[in-house]
Amino acid sequence: MHNATDNPDSAEHKDPVTEVIPQILTRRSSRAIDPDKAVSEHTLERLFEAARWAPSAFNGQPWAYAVATTNNPELLSAARDSLAKGNSWALKAPVLMFSLSYKKMPSKKLIPNWLHKYEAGMATGQMALQAAEEGLVFHQMLGFNPFKIRKIFNIPRSYSVLSAIAIGYPGSTEELSKKHALEETHTRTRKAIEDFSFIDSTCVDLK
Ligand SMILES: Cc1cc2nc3c(=O)[nH]c(=O)nc-3n(C[C@H](O)[C@H](O)[C@H](O)COP(=O)(O)O)c2cc1C
Repeated sequence: MHNATDNPDSAEHKDPVTEVIPQILTRRSSRAIDPDKAVSEHTLERLFEAARWAPSAFNGQPWAYAVATTNNPELLSAARDSLAKGNSWALKAPVLMFSLSYKKMPSKKLIPNWLHKYEAGMATGQMALQAAEEGLVFHQMLGFNPFKIRKIFNIPRSYSVLSAIAIGYPGSTEELSKKHALEETHTRTRKAIEDFSFIDSTCVDLK
């Protein structure tokens, strides 16, 4: 069934970018973080609450998060040591979080859950939108050493270590590299919708 907004010639047809949830558009992976403004435990709880309501196969909820904050300087320092050189801007973050996922099906521990990373990614995506709503910097990273993190937090083999996330409040761009400083305000770009969606057709143009 079609409605007026499906017709591109209709006066009511709007650019879909003007109609999505605002936090999807305002979220961005900033690097300028205020090193002196701590993130409260209550704020972290709201991020976990956002993750908590993500969907998952059999409601298995395979995600978990290991977190180091300024309240435990020794742990935070060890977590900072895991970051890749290219992510040294994240050393300022008062919180480093690491996303994990349980590899097995919820009640059948011998059967692998082949979508555990997908599910944990969705939970973390919800967290990212909650963080955007709260004006927090929430910057996910693959540039870190997961072996170090496994050791520091004593993470069992049944869990994958997925991503690092720098969390804090916006700060100055002064100590960022020129490139990173420019990226704080640049216009975010994406593929066109027709490059990744195929409605009522084969995926013939998918490359
Ligand atoms: C799984 C994942 C890994 C990422 N790894 C890094 C990283 O190691 N360092 C970094 O500066 N940004 C990293 N990013 C941020 C991306 O570069 C960023 O999301 C992308 O350029 C789109 O920008 P936007 O998030 O502001 O829309 C990562 C993002 C994701 C989701």
